[in-house]
Amino acid sequence: MGFDLDVVVVGGCGHVGLPLAIAFAERGLQVGIYDINPAAVEEVRSGVMPFDEPGAEEALQRVVSSSHLRPTTDAAVVSDAEHVVVVIGTPVDEHLNPDPKVVPAAVEDLAAHLRPGQLLVLRSTVYPGVTALVERRLSNLGLDVDVAFCPERIAEGKALKELFELPQIVSARNPGALMRARKLFEVLVNEIVELLPEEAELAKLYTNAYRYLKFALANQLYMMANDFSLDYERIRQGVIYNYPRAADLPAAGFAAGPCLLKDTMQLAAFNNNNFVLGHAAMMVNEGLPLYVVDRLSRRYDLATMTIGILGMAFKGESDDTRSSLAYKLKRILRFKAGDVLCTDPYVKVDHNLVPLKEVLDRSDLLVIGAPHRLYADLPVDKPVVDIWGVRGDGVRV
Ligand SMILES: NC(=O)c1ccc[n+]([C@@H]2O[C@H](COP(=O)([O-])OP(=O)(O)OC[C@H]3O[C@@H](n4cnc5c(N)ncnc54)[C@H](O)[C@@H]3O)[C@@H](O)[C@H]2O)c1
Repeated sequence: MGFDLDVVVVGGCGHVGLPLAIAFAERGLQVGIYDINPAAVEEVRSGVMPFDEPGAEEALQRVVSSSHLRPTTDAAVVSDAEHVVVVIGTPVDEHLNPDPKVVPAAVEDLAAHLRPGQLLVLRSTVYPGVTALVERRLSNLGLDVDVAFCPERIAEGKALKELFELPQIVSARNPGALMRARKLFEVLVNEIVELLPEEAELAKLYTNAYRYLKFALANQLYMMANDFSLDYERIRQGVIYNYPRAADLPAAGFAAGPCLLKDTMQLAAFNNNNFVLGHAAMMVNEGLPLYVVDRLSRRYDLATMTIGILGMAFKGESDDTRSSLAYKLKRILRFKAGDVLCTDPYVKVDHNLVPLKEVLDRSDLLVIGAPHRLYADLPVDKPVVDIWGVRGDGVRV
């Protein structure tokens, strides 16, 4: 049976789904997007990115105007595509528990639209065992659909570069499904890594846990240096200079965002909450805003001061505030300081932000919350707390 579309991306207006859909469409595939967010679908249909992603809007406009990309809120589009890629969000709850049912439930909701001969590709970062669960559910429903798990490993802000560069991990239990997943992702890259589904599920979580732990190590070393009145960034530069074995020691900074903590906690839950290093990393990374405020309160009478936070996104040059520790910093400071003013040139979703000039004029002390490049050379006549080392003036607090 023929299909009108090569691929439909379920969750295709999201931070991962949309760049992927654009990338496939840029390579000439006929791509559909199914997303439950009508406002985002409308924006994408008119060639507007719902969030910042370098290079994406031009590409989006190309593929929309050439009719290679068709977004809709109608789930029936799923029937039209040979490959159905599911990349919906998989957050942990307020107790840091993953919800292993999110992806299987979404697939079951789509069951009426799935057709024999399709390849269903799970691309969300899933709790280990979810691929097997989806396979069982589809088989119970009597659906003859191949299943693959092919995790996404891009970093936001580099999506449209990395989708064409990073090796793609593909996994499936039967060789036919594996070959089909391989062929699909060879549209994007030459390097394909084949794993078993259970290996691939862990590979994705290991990727993010590794990064989260590296940031935690940097942050703990930062606090250690700082407690001894030493500048971590000077030490780090000394360590990494022409020394490949430590070249990836990160700078200090708020390690946040929608993935790293969440996926480290998914891994901990998977291993019966036995992930000592993962939990230790959480304590360090999540504790950093508290540490900063504690240090500041020893030097300043915060209750009499207005503190300005420069940058509220979870990382530099991003508009994404999901799980940003700049907001934790704000919450702590609102309790301790006289007033707190926040600004960010990229963030559009927070109506409490004020213009940069107002923050600079009214604040007694500035803290860099996100390392946007524009803060590097900003002329200021107030003290700036810069644990990231954006300004090159030292990171001590
Ligand atoms: N953001 C990242 O940098 C990143 C990187 C790699 C992997 N991931 C993983 O990719 C997945 C998606 O993350 P994201 O950041 O793109 O999330 P997101 O919230 O930006 O996007 C998810 C999209 O799915 C849509 N959606 C939700 N439920 C749906 C449903 N039942 N049917 C159709 N559409 C639905 C939402 O409207 C949204 O547009 C997660 O598992 C995440 O862990 C994210």
